[in-house]
Amino acid sequence: MFQNCNAHFHGQCTYELAHMEMISAILYQLTKGLTPEEIKASGFDTYFVDHTTGIYPVAASGVPFTASYFQSKGDIITDLTEDLAAEQKARTTYDNIIRLTDDPDVLDPIKFLREREIVHFQRFGEGLRIAQDNLNSKNFYAFNPEFDTNCKARG
Ligand SMILES: [Fe+2]
Repeated sequence: MFQNCNAHFHGQCTYELAHMEMISAILYQLTKGLTPEEIKASGFDTYFVDHTTGIYPVAASGVPFTASYFQSKGDIITDLTEDLAAEQKARTTYDNIIRLTDDPDVLDPIKFLREREIVHFQRFGEGLRIAQDNLNSKNFYAFNPEFDTNCKARG
């Protein structure tokens, strides 16, 4: 059961990387050929000083991306709950981008990605339900079903 969930979610990770590629392409298109005056007027100047127009993964607030964003505890209940939250955080970020732009070249792919986050949330929710349905009241929050295979609490 847990192996089936893992295979499904590995495919979902591939989609997430494709989404990153789409965001990078949008950023490339938005910054291509900017003049110094446009860079200053747009507020892009601080980023430009550090990275020119190269793609550097950083939050809108300026916090650089780190591998610590990939939360993993090796427990299917914990990790799926984290995944559910990540999908909602991504959707909210897309909602905020949609509120701030009227550029159809940005809006259309962002709306597509927003829809994908909703589907991912639903798929992770299904995975969490499958995992929970395979636990009983004796082991529901008592052990890691992937690691503690000989746990006495398993019932
Ligand atoms: Fe997603």
